Amino acid sequence: MLTPENLAIVILAAGQGVRMNSSLPKVLHTLGDKPLIQHVLNTAVCLKPASVHLIYGHGGEQVRRTVTTPAVTWVEQIPQLGTGHAVAQALPTIPDHAFVLVLYGDVPLINVVTLQALCDLASSENLVLLTVELPNPQGYGRIVRNTWGDVEKIVEDKDAEPHIKQIKEVNTGILVATAVQLRRWLTALKNDNAQGEYYLTDIVALAVQEQKSVCTHSPLDHFEVMGVNDRIQLATLERYYQQQQVKRLMQQGVWVRDPARVDIRGTVQADQDVSIDVNVILEGRVILGKGVKIGPNTVIRNATLAADVEIFSHCVIENVVIGRGCRIGPFARLRPETVLAEQVHIGNFVEIKKSTVADGSKINHLSYVGDSEVGKNVNIGAGTITCNYDGANKHKTIIEDHVFIGSDTQLVAPVTVKEGATIGAGSTITKEAPAEALTLSRAPQKTLPNWRRPVKKPT
Ligand code: UD1
Ligand code: CA
Repeated sequence: MLTPENLAIVILAAGQGVRMNSSLPKVLHTLGDKPLIQHVLNTAVCLKPASVHLIYGHGGEQVRRTVTTPAVTWVEQIPQLGTGHAVAQALPTIPDHAFVLVLYGDVPLINVVTLQALCDLASSENLVLLTVELPNPQGYGRIVRNTWGDVEKIVEDKDAEPHIKQIKEVNTGILVATAVQLRRWLTALKNDNAQGEYYLTDIVALAVQEQKSVCTHSPLDHFEVMGVNDRIQLATLERYYQQQQVKRLMQQGVWVRDPARVDIRGTVQADQDVSIDVNVILEGRVILGKGVKIGPNTVIRNATLAADVEIFSHCVIENVVIGRGCRIGPFARLRPETVLAEQVHIGNFVEIKKSTVADGSKINHLSYVGDSEVGKNVNIGAGTITCNYDGANKHKTIIEDHVFIGSDTQLVAPVTVKEGATIGAGSTITKEAPAEALTLSRAPQKTLPNWRRPVKKPT
């Protein structure tokens, strides 16, 4: 019987992917920002197999560097002589008593439920194939059955006669068999076919010759077994993948204005009654608290937004923590390592970098706040700049509680504005501003009463 303890998964990923027309190995192209091969590995690992063998070839080093799954057995296949030859490369490291499940590095959306069903059908005396009926089966190996409906063989599209090409049931390539049987069948493969390759699919006819039973199972959805061979197929799968992700969000209680115009490129955890407007991209790990509202045309990457946060349109938010009830934007940029406490208002054309802002403070118009600590109930006027960089080093600005900073102020760091201080508009602050006092640096205003505007000389 197949159990996780005797399951070995072999993932084929040695092919070049010529039709991608890319210098990147095919399996490193991404779906929802995650490499194709990583999707397959993540699903494979869900079955808790005893071992996972990754057959690599083209761009091998790059693939090895990108994959994050630990405990993968890397098997190099050079040269690549076909899918049968590829599986054979893994067999020396797989024990006889094992069952082998073959997956494909470029078939990213295979579902663990389907794989479990396939595994449940496996026995020491059979071969289990995942097959699917496609309205347009062109390009795929066809499942040929006899008059009783038993599988007889698989014929590759390139080797198929016209009547075989009529068959709609195709080979997905995914299968399960015991290591003992595979060893025997793969040794017997020949490459006398249209592509001069050792086809894994030819083991079906060998199994039938030995009077083994060949069982088939179908996936819930044909997107599960769709491969990525070119960028058009990649884009088709990306759309499908996005639809699935958004569906999941809506099931969690998120109001998505248009499911076709939100992209999730990572993982999103959302509480009830979150609302997301159109053209929003969520990347990395995003956590959205109850009642969060996200306006249109916004990118949020690796961020935690507490309950009732409102993001107005056109914001870019990355690596930040935003406290309850904050209002951000429109047109705001929150850069990494920014932490906003509760009820903070960040308005239009404001950039905040590596700063903390305490409860109730407002930075509403056209400001840059970097490497700063801003206290609570601070008001930072329009056009305020923290001059945090001297050309060589970054310095800190500290603005204590209840400070009021007049518009168009430059705070030349390192500098501190003490509690309750007021800074007059247009100041350049280079020294500590004392608490509860007005500090300003401004050339005195003067008027030249007899001054006349220049006039144009007569020609
Ligand atoms: C294969 C199947 C076909 C099936 C289709 C489903 C064979 C002979 N044909 O055809 O019946 O309908 O998949 O998508 O198996 N690979 C290696 N080493 C090799 C050759 C291929 O690792 O030497 C890998 C490729 O990287 C790819 C996978 O195996 O991930 C499939 O190879 P590909 O050449 O694309 O096979 P298809 O012609 O699509
Ligand atoms: Ca393929």
